[in-house]
Amino acid sequence: MSNFPVNKPVLVTCALPYANGKCHIGHLRTYVPGDIFVRALRKQGQEVTFISGSDAHGTPIVVNAEELGTTPTELVKKYHDHFYSIFKRMGVEFNNFGNTDSPANHARTNSIVEALIEKGYVYPQVTKQAYCPECKRFLPDRYVKGTCPHCGKPARGDECDQGCGKHLEPGEIRDAKCQICGHAAEYREQEHFFFRLSEFGDYLSGYLNILGGTTNAINYAKIWAKELKDWCITRNLEWGVRFPGHDELVVYVWVDAPIGYISFTEEWATRTGNDWEKYWKGDSRIIHFIGEDITYHHCIFWPAMLKGAGYTQPWAVVASGMLKIDDKKFSKSRGYVVWVDEDYLDHGFHPDLLRYYLASYTSHTKELNFSWQVFQDKVNNEVVGALGNFLHRTLHFTHKNFGKIPNGEVDSGIYEKIKSTTTSVISAFDEYEFKKATDEMMELAAFGNAYFQSKEPWKLVNADKEACGRVLKNCLQIGKALTLLFEPVLPGNMEKAWKQLGLPGDVHKAGFQDALVEIESVKIEAPEILFTRIEDKKIKEMEAILDKRIKIAMAKDNETQETGQFVTFDEFGKLDIRIGRITSAENIKGSDKLLKLEVDIGEKRQVVAGIAQSHSPGALVGKQVVLLANMKPAKLFGVESRGMILAADTDGVVLLEPEKEVREGTKIR
Ligand code: MSP
Ligand code: ZN
Repeated sequence: MSNFPVNKPVLVTCALPYANGKCHIGHLRTYVPGDIFVRALRKQGQEVTFISGSDAHGTPIVVNAEELGTTPTELVKKYHDHFYSIFKRMGVEFNNFGNTDSPANHARTNSIVEALIEKGYVYPQVTKQAYCPECKRFLPDRYVKGTCPHCGKPARGDECDQGCGKHLEPGEIRDAKCQICGHAAEYREQEHFFFRLSEFGDYLSGYLNILGGTTNAINYAKIWAKELKDWCITRNLEWGVRFPGHDELVVYVWVDAPIGYISFTEEWATRTGNDWEKYWKGDSRIIHFIGEDITYHHCIFWPAMLKGAGYTQPWAVVASGMLKIDDKKFSKSRGYVVWVDEDYLDHGFHPDLLRYYLASYTSHTKELNFSWQVFQDKVNNEVVGALGNFLHRTLHFTHKNFGKIPNGEVDSGIYEKIKSTTTSVISAFDEYEFKKATDEMMELAAFGNAYFQSKEPWKLVNADKEACGRVLKNCLQIGKALTLLFEPVLPGNMEKAWKQLGLPGDVHKAGFQDALVEIESVKIEAPEILFTRIEDKKIKEMEAILDKRIKIAMAKDNETQETGQFVTFDEFGKLDIRIGRITSAENIKGSDKLLKLEVDIGEKRQVVAGIAQSHSPGALVGKQVVLLANMKPAKLFGVESRGMILAADTDGVVLLEPEKEVREGTKIR
């Protein structure tokens, strides 16, 4: 018996991609199975609303925008449009793809946070927060880098991203340094707001016993639920959703991001005249598709927040294993990445093929390895060799000898086979086992091929044309069933196959039960080939692109490792360090840190130095200093600087001076 259809509103969501970088195939492990699942539910007659959108907030977006000299709003728009268009090209079709910086999400977040405050689940507490004395600002989350207190690997402020994967609360990270300038962080006292997560331990332990989805997520969450700490939900940032009543604070991104699931449902409901509350306040089934890395947020924080604020909690959390490339950990910085546009779609590969790979490679909860070699094998042997071959030889042979779907009945044995395959496929989807589902479908294609082969219709066509017609009719019925079963996985090509089979209406709207409705005897056209083999040459080309990217990343890494540790004599020789005399000094309008200096090194140099807070212009004129004369020219506050004054980096700035006066321009070695 299937879990679906049910007489309850069903909402499926996919984790919201950070609008901070391009879509890679790692992302697709959330979105493609999510889309397949939704299509499969609709094929069972289930009404489903399918929601996702951009995660617009959080420190990485601010840090990136700052580095790129753009605004967070601009950056988010760019990547929001990017993800939206990639999903469309990949056949991933949401009912609404929102943005967490929308007015609706600000409003819903405010209302939920206010509800939590009102119910006493939020309290203020003075805490020590990382602060950079150099940049003069607090360092929330990714503004800090340091060492994980649990496993000792390099980590960032809110997460051990290279080691054990644990969520880190502000102040937990060791050896905290500023991400922007590298200066060691200090800890300063600040009032922040905490969510009483620790009070939800019993509730969560009970809830996790009934939560559906994949066991990988739920089993971890059960362990975490036993040792819950209160959760700091505010940050010192400008970008985000304001914490009610505190203009200097925004809520932590993991508060307003999942609330996007609600506000995007609201937007969709307003647009289509539906009711969002039946999903989020009533008896519904909310199913979240996520990657394993964000289990904590979806199985701990989120249900506790929903429970606390009085909303419906998720019915299932479906967490995928992570994606690897050539058996190596996925890593953009190490070059182990396959971009969906420039490395896949733009090379003319059909989206369906990657959808098939992602669904069929392995169990949803296991790590999935992507390699071009395996991609080629799976496409050529399974998609082309089994499915494509069966559909094409059946349609081609039928068209050539009959010009239409032959009359005659379909054998009951064939219907039985279709029925049992459909049942197995549905129960595999119920278990979120996409591989099992596609294996069952492919097994039906293999059955079809074996049937065609054993009945030898090419001989029958001359000996007994009517018998030949019956064989083909059986094959065509199997073809119809395959088209329906595969539609969730291969929506583009199954739309074409549906037409080739002369079937009426829209394959995307037809149900699985249609597979048992006899295919009608209509005229058919000569079929075009749906799937073609991928040539070795193409795969070599793709492998070369990946190899090159990995090699470049490795070279860069070696370079930074070497130069990070030692300096060669040649490299030192490149530094043109000279004694100079300050001949004039003045403040720079608009900056309380910078001075404009003129330094004589045998020639006059204009230099901007960040010493205004430690030195008055008057006291500097006439002093001899040490100048890095071939520093790359830069403009600061619109003033050109062609050199850098050297100083000891301590409390305040201490300038270096020669032991005794020397001629201006004397070189330092
Ligand atoms: N913004 C958060 C999710 C907020 S949900 C309220 C986020 N964004 S993400 O862009 O980093 O990831 C989006 C989805 O892609 C997540 O489900 C994540 O698990 C998944 N993946 C991103 N990289 C992945 C791999 N390398 N492998 C498998 N899934 C990965 O997390
Ligand atoms: Zn760690």
